[in-house]
Amino acid sequence: MTWAQVYPIVSLLFLSPITLGSPIEADVQHLPPPIETRAVAKRADINCNDINDRKYFNRDTIEPYLNTTTGYCSLWNAAIGGSDITRYYFIGTMEEVQISISRPDATTQHPSGDHCETNLKEILKGCATNSPIKWNRGGNWVVDGWTYNITAQTSRRPVADAPTVRCKWQGNTAQVSGAGWLGSDFGNEMKAQARTFGYDSKVTWVEDFHYELKDDHEWTVSISPAGKGTKDDIEILLGLAYVVSPGADPRTARVPCVEPTKPRET
Ligand SMILES: *[C@@H]1O[C@H](CO)[C@@H](O)[C@H](O)[C@H]1NC(C)=O
Ligand SMILES: *[C@@H]1O[C@H](CO)[C@@H](O)[C@H](O)[C@H]1NC(C)=O
Repeated sequence: MTWAQVYPIVSLLFLSPITLGSPIEADVQHLPPPIETRAVAKRADINCNDINDRKYFNRDTIEPYLNTTTGYCSLWNAAIGGSDITRYYFIGTMEEVQISISRPDATTQHPSGDHCETNLKEILKGCATNSPIKWNRGGNWVVDGWTYNITAQTSRRPVADAPTVRCKWQGNTAQVSGAGWLGSDFGNEMKAQARTFGYDSKVTWVEDFHYELKDDHEWTVSISPAGKGTKDDIEILLGLAYVVSPGADPRTARVPCVEPTKPRET
């Protein structure tokens, strides 16, 4: 007789009348553990990064880059061995993130693209903030011995609930600066908005978009009227682009640009 056959009989001898009345429960409690125990990763074990580090990203920006078709997780579908795949996304922006899955003692078993996507998305769910802009802290989580890690690389302004944009005229050019607003792709999203709203031919983008961390902004760009465009068009365009952000009202979409203060006569 094997142990598996003997065990139920032996364990029966020790069962109380109460457990005898519920045989299924008795089985669960008294069977030896399966030979291959596979630890179940608990969501509570996700370690979120500290929001006080001011390193965070927008979930909607990063999530598409996890997909198994062409994103980070497709690399795991193609992987045949190895212990580590690390990639950086949005390099040079405020939302630069490092995504990695690693296991120093890895043998040939590694996560599939689907495991990769599911588990990394669990980190995003577990490490959300309350901000309506869906700022995410990222973090790490150990599943089946593999460490899944999504961590922003750049310290930025404290998390805010609303994006900000400021604008002032310098001659005919609007000097625009902002934070938490269409800024994770070197201004390309703003240009796309201009096209969407038909302002393409009315504005000229001075190619000076850059990221800089200041008290009140994280990026700046210069925009001038073009063709039949006017200063008004720029203020309305900025407003229209701004209303794609949560909480803003499209009916009052306009970002007023400040006129320069006249030098005082002496
Ligand atoms: C998959 O990820 C790539 C980036 O690697 C992104 O361009 C694409 O839009 C994503 N596709 C989906 C369906 O999210
Ligand atoms: C996650 O990645 C960051 C770098 O982006 C690193 O500093 C940190 O130690 C990693 N955490 C773990 C648990 O591997």
